[in-house]
Amino acid sequence: MKLKSKVALITGAGSGLGREIALTFAREGCAIGVNDIRPETADAVVAELRALGAEASPLPCDVADSRAVHKMFAKHMGDFQSLDILVNNAGIAHMEEHVRKNAEAMLQEVITTGRTTRSAEATKLMEDGHWRRTLAIHLDGTFYCTREALKIMEFNGWGNIINMGSLASQTGIMGVPDYSAAKAGIVGFTKSVAREVIGRGIRVNAIAPGYIDTPLLVEVSDLMKQMIAAQTPMGRLGTAAEVAATALFLASDDSSFFVGQVLAPNGGLYM
Ligand SMILES: NC(=O)c1ccc[n+]([C@@H]2O[C@H](COP(=O)([O-])OP(=O)(O)OC[C@H]3O[C@@H](n4cnc5c(N)ncnc54)[C@H](O)[C@@H]3O)[C@@H](O)[C@H]2O)c1
Repeated sequence: MKLKSKVALITGAGSGLGREIALTFAREGCAIGVNDIRPETADAVVAELRALGAEASPLPCDVADSRAVHKMFAKHMGDFQSLDILVNNAGIAHMEEHVRKNAEAMLQEVITTGRTTRSAEATKLMEDGHWRRTLAIHLDGTFYCTREALKIMEFNGWGNIINMGSLASQTGIMGVPDYSAAKAGIVGFTKSVAREVIGRGIRVNAIAPGYIDTPLLVEVSDLMKQMIAAQTPMGRLGTAAEVAATALFLASDDSSFFVGQVLAPNGGLYM
């Protein structure tokens, strides 16, 4: 078992990648604090983990709320008395309706004429609240959770933090400038903190997945998914299990010389 007797806190673990990472870590002997903004999904994943024989506890909170995050870490320590691994995974990727329609029209135009003169009109029409909420969940949430985790890990002289970036941090994705900015910020944050705390025995790395088939892609049309698969050298979207395997590698001693790296399970979409 690669994570025997370790304790992890995984944010956004009620669905998709976070849930799969929780199940994968649990099979390797890890106890899991299951965060999600939706308490019912955290409870459901805790039940799945306990059915596997793992120790697990629900930690519902909004990671964009620094006071709630502070309380969540206190509850985690009350439940487990330890924290070895933090996975900053919670996230949203919301494309507004008009942006989605414009993006579809652009795609159709490219398919028929080979080029487009349109704009998705995402940046020009984006409201402050939409921009701020995306950055708050991804970037502020990653910062708040990392800050709390470091207080525990620096004391222990050991720790492992994995941040969820995205292909968007490497290439930008049309229609989601907020998401692309937040994910690029997470990569910069990862490298800075990695340099800061490696001397204390804490490794910080990131994962930048390509398109992975999870509920996050609910707003992506079938046509768009076909285009993505066609542009991906591997010819398909990824699975949550493929990202969870990357997280397990980073969380375990198998990656002992990896510091401040961004691993990109993306089927070759970006090399
Ligand atoms: N699916 C993909 O193609 C893909 C690609 C690259 C990166 N990612 C990133 O991976 C992470 C997980 O995405 P997913 O595909 O599993 O999506 P998902 O929608 O299946 O899961 C995200 C989870 O995060 C939770 N969440 C949202 N806001 C939160 C908040 N403020 N506080 C706590 N929890 C919150 C949601 O309730 C949900 O359970 C995200 O950071 C996402 O940006 C996903």
